[in-house]
Amino acid sequence: MFPDLQPGDYQPDLPSDLRFGIGFVGCGNIVQRSQMPAYKRAGFRVVACCDLTEEKARSVAANFDNPLVTTEVEELLAHPDVQIVDLAVHAYQRLPLVEQIAAAGKHIFSQKPLAPSLGEAERIVEICRDAGVTLMVNHQARWAPPHRALRLLVEQGVLGHVYSVTHFHRAYQDYGWYAEHEDFNIVDHGIHYVDLSRYFSGHTPLRVKATTTMVPGQNAISPMIYTILFEYEASSQIMTTLHFNNIVSAPALHDHLWFLDGTRGSALLSNPMGTAKLSVSLKDAPEQVQTYEIAGTWGYEGFAGSMGEMLRALEEGREPECSGRDNLESIRMAVAAVESSNSGESVELSR
Ligand SMILES: NC(=O)c1ccc[n+]([C@@H]2O[C@H](COP(=O)([O-])OP(=O)(O)OC[C@H]3O[C@@H](n4cnc5c(N)ncnc54)[C@H](O)[C@@H]3O)[C@@H](O)[C@H]2O)c1
Repeated sequence: MFPDLQPGDYQPDLPSDLRFGIGFVGCGNIVQRSQMPAYKRAGFRVVACCDLTEEKARSVAANFDNPLVTTEVEELLAHPDVQIVDLAVHAYQRLPLVEQIAAAGKHIFSQKPLAPSLGEAERIVEICRDAGVTLMVNHQARWAPPHRALRLLVEQGVLGHVYSVTHFHRAYQDYGWYAEHEDFNIVDHGIHYVDLSRYFSGHTPLRVKATTTMVPGQNAISPMIYTILFEYEASSQIMTTLHFNNIVSAPALHDHLWFLDGTRGSALLSNPMGTAKLSVSLKDAPEQVQTYEIAGTWGYEGFAGSMGEMLRALEEGREPECSGRDNLESIRMAVAAVESSNSGESVELSR
């Protein structure tokens, strides 16, 4: 009755063809903490590291087989072995770099969010299309085994028709650059969950209603707590609720949960960034709950799986999942949520 979920079913399939050379532009936090260790373990070929601060580029390069170290993007782009630029700068810094990288004929693997506004994101997609280079956005959460396992339940029809997707997240990021970026909680961090709501529901909404508030004494320039409601075509018979309180100063009560409810059963995924548990309850077995411990994390399998998809797409000559074009839908949803929270009105997601 309950599915036999095995790690091989939900762990990302890494490519065996590792010939593509990767160059990092930006060697800050996300590269040092997550991408560098994941790429090293996966055996990806990092051939150049560039950062405005040479020391950062050097410390990332020390983990690979003697890559070029530079503070000049032009030098990295002139390196013949760089085929993919892993663009790990901030969203507001991306557009001029994309112009330069695409003009050099290099493929781009961009950190999320692709851009701070929909207009800029569309421009980036257009530049890459015109230059004939592949653009993928790193939504590694889609390759994190806990999220893949949950999605598998949907694909296999275990839950029946999924009519409710609910995300509930409590954390604290009221410091550092997170606090300094406008609308960080929705457009930068929260875009992971907006994108995952598309991944789990298989639908893109028609309308969004969002609410936020500032909190006494907060450092962040924008609200760090939101509730977002997505509405779909009536025939889809589904609704999505995303709640993210990212200013919970009492860490013992931090949490991270996804509930999916369907006509045949419900699933609860807890702690998908760490040692995750996935619990399933079915209408036909109301007394039982089956709980799976999910092997693998957002940290390694997520980041390796996402770049692995980029490598496979290039090898197979196809558009990657989370291509720039696809990602415009997630950006459209996130910026519309900000607009709704500012105006107090529902916002139509016109296309
Ligand atoms: N995928 C995820 O889960 C995840 C997690 C955290 C951050 N991020 C994203 O990664 C991006 C970077 O975040 P971070 O925390 O690493 O920031 P950071 O400030 O630590 O690093 C950014 C780096 O880019 C460098 N840089 C800027 N302009 C440059 C240029 N022209 N040439 C070379 N280097 C340049 C800076 O010197 C800095 O070291 C952001 O878009 C953020 O949203 C993604």
